[in-house]
Amino acid sequence: MSVEKTLHKIQNALDQDLKAVTSAKEVELLRVKYLGKKGSIQGLMSLLRTCTPEERPQIGKLINELKVKTTTLLDEKEQKLGALELNEQLKGEVEDVTLPGRRRNQGRRHISLETLDEALDILMGMGFSVQYGPDIESDYYNFEALNFAKDHPARDMQDTFYISGDTLLRTHTSNIQVRVMEGTKPPIRIVGPGNCYRNEDITPRSHVQFLQIEVLYVDKNVTFADLMATLKEFYTKFFSKEMKLRYRPSYFPFVEPGMEVDINCISCGGEGCILCKNSGWLEVCGAGMVHPEVLKSGGVDPEEYTGYAFGMGPDRLTLLRHGIPDIRLVLEDNLRFLQQF
Ligand code: FA5
Repeated sequence: MSVEKTLHKIQNALDQDLKAVTSAKEVELLRVKYLGKKGSIQGLMSLLRTCTPEERPQIGKLINELKVKTTTLLDEKEQKLGALELNEQLKGEVEDVTLPGRRRNQGRRHISLETLDEALDILMGMGFSVQYGPDIESDYYNFEALNFAKDHPARDMQDTFYISGDTLLRTHTSNIQVRVMEGTKPPIRIVGPGNCYRNEDITPRSHVQFLQIEVLYVDKNVTFADLMATLKEFYTKFFSKEMKLRYRPSYFPFVEPGMEVDINCISCGGEGCILCKNSGWLEVCGAGMVHPEVLKSGGVDPEEYTGYAFGMGPDRLTLLRHGIPDIRLVLEDNLRFLQQF
């Protein structure tokens, strides 16, 4: 067979093969079949040897042309099929914009901190300014300066987490009282919020770490009537309705007289229900007139000044306000529960 005929035959076979391929991968196989080391075009080179010297340049040229043409045809086919394949693949990957989005968990303020903020807003509106005391406290500011003698049995009222010797986690925000008096000349009108810690049994109403708000007012002629009026105004504003208050004598070493304050039950209005255990009343804070010994510890002359103080727990107020039966639901990071609010 003449060289031209052989070239022609290869060209025809290539045309057929190119028509039959359906993927870029198959085109690669054709490239090996025609242009590879053992491919049919490469094999033509051996034919050159059988040609006369005069024929060789002409035949060489024809082989070369076929090589270039084959390369071009294979490249074109590969590009075309590659683009089609890519399109098909992208079609399958198109985002479905109608799918529902993934919900993100969004952080929010804890319900007890909301209660705390509201209480602070009301008290600031009544002329009190916010002051903070330390959570890690000395025995002196937590107990001794507040008229708890070293062996005073009242220390047992608040089971304490001691850190070392005289250092402890404050059991109440009353630790701020003498600190503020030491640094400020009366009139003093402050509110001190913060965490408190007690080594107590955990129950539906009590936890080992909880919030308190301390209120302290020291000035000339501060009276018990001022204390009662402040408490009534505060709880009326907090619950957004006229509240009745009840005062029960109680003992705290740092006030004299001291009392516990109850509000009429917010659930039954005083008639008796599960929340108030049929008493019609709910205990909300401890309060009293600042003890003269405490004024002295703070460098304030009890002959010239008097004062009142009260302390309440925003976590328990949160229970009341939202009708939650157990403080653990509020304080133990139960997100499924807290997300409802
Ligand atoms: C005191 O801590 C006094 N320092 C309050 C006080 C201040 C009296 C100024 C007089 C003058 P009491 O232990 O009752 O008092 O706590 C006050 C409030 O803190 C309680 O009414 C309650 O709301 C909250 N509280 C106390 N213990 C716990 C607890 N274990 N878990 C959750 N809340 C608590």
